[in-house]
Amino acid sequence: MKPDPTAVSAAAYRLRAQSDEPLCAYLYDLAHLRDHARRLVSSLPDGCELFYAVKANSDAPVLRALADTVHGFEVASGGELAWVRSHCPGTPVVFGGPGKTDAELEAAIAAGVECLHVESLGELRRLAWLAGGAGKKVAVLLRINLALADLPQTSLTMGGRPTPFGVDAQQLPQVLAWLNRHPQVVLRGFHFHLLSHQLDADAHLRLLQVYLQQVAIWQRQYRLEIDQINVGGGIGINYREPDRQFAWERFSRGLATLMADAAPGRCRIRFELGRYVSASCGYYLMQVLDIKRNLGRRFVIARGGTHHFRTPYAQGHSHPFRILPVESWHYPFARPEVERSRVDVVGQLCTPKDVLASAVYVERLRVGDLLLFTYAGAYAWHISHHDFLRHPHPRQIYLSLSQEGRHVAVQ
Ligand SMILES: Cc1ncc(COP(=O)(O)O)c(C=O)c1O
Repeated sequence: MKPDPTAVSAAAYRLRAQSDEPLCAYLYDLAHLRDHARRLVSSLPDGCELFYAVKANSDAPVLRALADTVHGFEVASGGELAWVRSHCPGTPVVFGGPGKTDAELEAAIAAGVECLHVESLGELRRLAWLAGGAGKKVAVLLRINLALADLPQTSLTMGGRPTPFGVDAQQLPQVLAWLNRHPQVVLRGFHFHLLSHQLDADAHLRLLQVYLQQVAIWQRQYRLEIDQINVGGGIGINYREPDRQFAWERFSRGLATLMADAAPGRCRIRFELGRYVSASCGYYLMQVLDIKRNLGRRFVIARGGTHHFRTPYAQGHSHPFRILPVESWHYPFARPEVERSRVDVVGQLCTPKDVLASAVYVERLRVGDLLLFTYAGAYAWHISHHDFLRHPHPRQIYLSLSQEGRHVAVQ
């Protein structure tokens, strides 16, 4: 899953040569994305499926690159549903997320989504009423929040403690009794998504073991005929130490053992991963505009900023980048540069929060050089406040492999 920036760097230099305007762009390596997704799918044990959580990056070329590889897409709004249906009409879709409106539930029923992930009894009631009105049966998973004293600690937890997400496991008897009286809603299984940013494969296996064991208990206790457990997303990217990523091979081997030991009979295990699928295919490119010293600290100011690429601020890390040196310099004065120093890389916004990397050591960096931020393909452009200050949007370049094996830009 390690990104290989060779093709993207070459494309960055090509872009640089096209204009004298300071450069700012997102570049996506779709060949890498496809390979990575294929590897994930093929290494999962039998009985597992990989859906892609499109909230991580729903760009049409990204979805098209994944559509034939993953088992389906997870959407979390009516907007995502309509978008996915228009760009990848044949791909199976599941619909989750809190606060679904009647219009969204109706759209999901009309679109024939494979399954809805229900967040509360109130939502279930509205869904049953709407499905009845449409004369349709709908399949659901109940998203459950389990109280877990020893939930692995990550920087983002959506459950294990009081949160707005999912049905409290203690309400399950009441919800199951209600489902028994409403045959227009068919319970297919359970959904869990208790955390994101999981970097520890063993801890994630232990969490999945808790899910599987819990579902097996419910299956026996309530004589449920279910066929699916959705274990959510949540596998993280190690932005702080990019060479130490989640041990996927170890995880998939452990998962095979876990399924043999603990999977409740006849249940498929479905993942809906976002970040781990698309982060490594994306790059954010900024050109250095200025280098200066201010009260003893060195600042590198580059074209763009957190209004395009909010990931480092959102996660509180220094985002990894590499320097692509640019040789041309057309001003009649010396080129500002910094050597063997620690620098803060900031963007163009009028806020001290516009920081992409801080106190990072650089051997040599000059005004005009390019900074290529890696792991920028998930929760990057899509979570950013694009129009703050009305700077131009970055260019969006999608690279795919031509039949001759060359990386070319596609739409
Ligand atoms: C319900 C649900 N599923 C899947 C995901 C994808 O998570 P990740 O990108 O961490 O894999 C999220 C992210 O918030 C989510 O809320």
